[in-house]
Amino acid sequence: MLTSFTPSSVAAALLWVVDGSTKQGVQRHASFERAGPGVSDLDPSDDHLPWDGRVFADIVNQMVSFVVLIAINPLLNWSEVVMRLDDDSFRVGSRAALRVLTDTLIEGLQGRPFPVSLLYRKWNHQCCVDLVETLLTMASADPRLNSAVLRAVHPAMTICPDVLLLALFQIPVNFPPITSIRQHIFQVLIPAIIIQHPNAVSVLNIGWNTDVLPRKVVHNSILSAFVSLYMKPPEDQQKLARILDIAHELKPGGLAELFSSSQLQFIVDLGCLASKRDYLKLEKWLEDKLQEHGQPLIKTVLCHMERRLPSTGSANSLPVETFSVLLAFVRNHLPMVAPAIRQQYTALTEQLKDMQRILSCWILVDQLFCMDLPWQLISVKEHLIDIILRIIFLAIAVGFPYRRQYSSL
Ligand SMILES: *[C@@H]1O[C@H](CO)[C@@H](O)[C@H](O)[C@H]1NC(C)=O
Repeated sequence: MLTSFTPSSVAAALLWVVDGSTKQGVQRHASFERAGPGVSDLDPSDDHLPWDGRVFADIVNQMVSFVVLIAINPLLNWSEVVMRLDDDSFRVGSRAALRVLTDTLIEGLQGRPFPVSLLYRKWNHQCCVDLVETLLTMASADPRLNSAVLRAVHPAMTICPDVLLLALFQIPVNFPPITSIRQHIFQVLIPAIIIQHPNAVSVLNIGWNTDVLPRKVVHNSILSAFVSLYMKPPEDQQKLARILDIAHELKPGGLAELFSSSQLQFIVDLGCLASKRDYLKLEKWLEDKLQEHGQPLIKTVLCHMERRLPSTGSANSLPVETFSVLLAFVRNHLPMVAPAIRQQYTALTEQLKDMQRILSCWILVDQLFCMDLPWQLISVKEHLIDIILRIIFLAIAVGFPYRRQYSSL
């Protein structure tokens, strides 16, 4: 136990002492002294903590100089203690707690100047919930303040959108309510976080599982951010992959809820990508969605195939396996669709046949020149190459003297 006077252990003790301002801390302390005097002094409604910071620091310093003497511990550096207070349990909930904290540090430093610069460095565990809550309260009390509040949070939206979003997820709904300003910030921040922030999954999961806001509202905000991101402009496969990654990590049920979107173009594209990753069986998924959406789904699938023919060579073209599943799905349901959709299907299959013809010509040429042929055809191939080479040489031989003749004139 004597070896435990490190900056971290002293900071941990100090965090516990300062957190005594919460009910839990006080009760824990009171239980130690239940029968003894002074229990009435521990009433949490009193702005009073059962600790004296100066005594705490004094005892720590005395203990430290003792263990330094017997060479167990290096001297305690109180600046390091201040740095270790950067912990997510760090709460200074009352004036009394602040007094205990400052008394402890001033006594601990033993007359050395307070390391103010350590307070201004970047802290890892700071969440400006109170400040954001105050701003939201102001905006909801007087809508004329909306633009001023937006101006105030704007720097945070660009510098630390994750921290701001986390704060918005933690401010209860009763007061201030989910006002248009909170919705507005959600609409800006959530897509920005989804598209490129490294903390996207962890921050969005906190919102997804919120206990202080109506979950439906938060879920809808997140889901509509996914859809609107995809639609501006649609079919960017890189963006779609990012959307799929994050929705798949939203637990529980993020991806399933996203698939219940009514934006059919989006869910068909997402379903194709998800099947490529083995998140779902495309055939079964299409049948389930057909129950839900009916004929419009078939039309969407047809348009999707038209836009993304497999052999157009662009990055946008569908893998052949996915394409054939979609094609079979539409073919199986042709009897139930309107004539216009049937015509669209026929036109698509004609187009595919043309493509296939061109494709098979190319394959023939390719085989002739590049692939191993059966022995009966080897001589044909060699003859063909021989004839072509002869024609080229003849052309050069015939053309060359003429050119010399003309140039000498
Ligand atoms: C105490 O820690 C601070 C912060 O790490 C450091 O800047 C300072 O030099 C240390 N002081 C001593 C005496 O080691």
